[in-house]
Amino acid sequence: MDQRLPIQFCGTGAYAPKEIITNEYFAGYLDTSDEWIVARTGIKTRHRAAPDETTSTMATEAAKLALEDAGLSIEDIDLIICATATGDHPFPATAALIQNRLGAKDTPAYDVQSACAGFLFGTLTASAYIASGMFNRVLLCGAETLTRFADPEDRSTIVLFGDAAGAAILSRAQREDQGILYWDMGTDGARSELIWVPAGGSRLPASETTVAERLHFMKMKGREVYKFAVKKLEVLIDRALEQTGIKADDLAMLIPHQSNLRIIESARRRLCLPREKIAINIDRYGNTSAASVIISLDEARRSGRLKEGDLVLLVAIGAGISWSTMIVRL
Ligand code: ACO
Repeated sequence: MDQRLPIQFCGTGAYAPKEIITNEYFAGYLDTSDEWIVARTGIKTRHRAAPDETTSTMATEAAKLALEDAGLSIEDIDLIICATATGDHPFPATAALIQNRLGAKDTPAYDVQSACAGFLFGTLTASAYIASGMFNRVLLCGAETLTRFADPEDRSTIVLFGDAAGAAILSRAQREDQGILYWDMGTDGARSELIWVPAGGSRLPASETTVAERLHFMKMKGREVYKFAVKKLEVLIDRALEQTGIKADDLAMLIPHQSNLRIIESARRRLCLPREKIAINIDRYGNTSAASVIISLDEARRSGRLKEGDLVLLVAIGAGISWSTMIVRL
């Protein structure tokens, strides 16, 4: 089946808050250490939002850079999507707040909630609109303020996550060979409680009990997620190469979601790719969920590691559990 979606990333941008949190900071009050965190996750530092920063303010900064990179203004954008699991409010959509901050008028704006797979789910949503002709240019943000949802007393999660935002402008492909050549997406809802925030929604609204039991913080069965992710990545990568006939050697870069350096390494080994072809920012950012893939893409484009015509494999697995893979010709 020809899965081609004729789109291009015509601009990208990224933003991270100024404050940088080291592993030693956590070792100062929790039973953890820099050695444990680096060895088990690859994380050395992560960014933390200032008190007046939120998912929408960070996404707005990234969006401004993406617009500048594309040589466009907000009036040129037909639709705004924000991929986030840590929006400013349960509602309205964080994308609506971004729309207002950017000074857009009446542009439709909504969120995609698919945690770490959010940027890829959002890319496919935006691409389907562009391919159908419904919209020509979509601003897609991937932004998270995860440090406000991780329990500062839980060493198994607080050390893992960081705050940041990325943004991309998607528009119609300019060349015949450009676009998404292959895509895959899926969800296993039976595993939805492997990573979740139990309270604050309609099932368990906020109460004194939910606050006392710390149920507004993320809970994660890390080991189970780890095992699932490593196996699933192999399947997803093998399927992408088999179905397209593309060889790993043809890839200019693998951009995996940044949840754990060991998971990224397992994907690299599966593809037998040299280290320089893997995008890695988990050491500096930690896990930034929906922001991680777009931050990697932006870093690779701006540093010249990726250029027009290059072939990139993007893959992400996260809460849901949801996953997505795509191969894109830039
Ligand atoms: N410092 C020191 N020890 C710790 C820490 C810490 N920060 N955290 C956990 N430990 C301990 C545990 O308590 C356990 O101790 P025990 O053996 O005495 O019980 C021991 O270390 C081993 O714990 P594991 O959970 O088995 O450690 P593991 O090697 O699996 O690493 C980690 C944990 C990093 C969370 C890993 O499982 C992982 O990366 N999982 C996948 C995460 C992921 O991909 N999430 C999806 C995206 S998130 C999203 O969608 C929002």
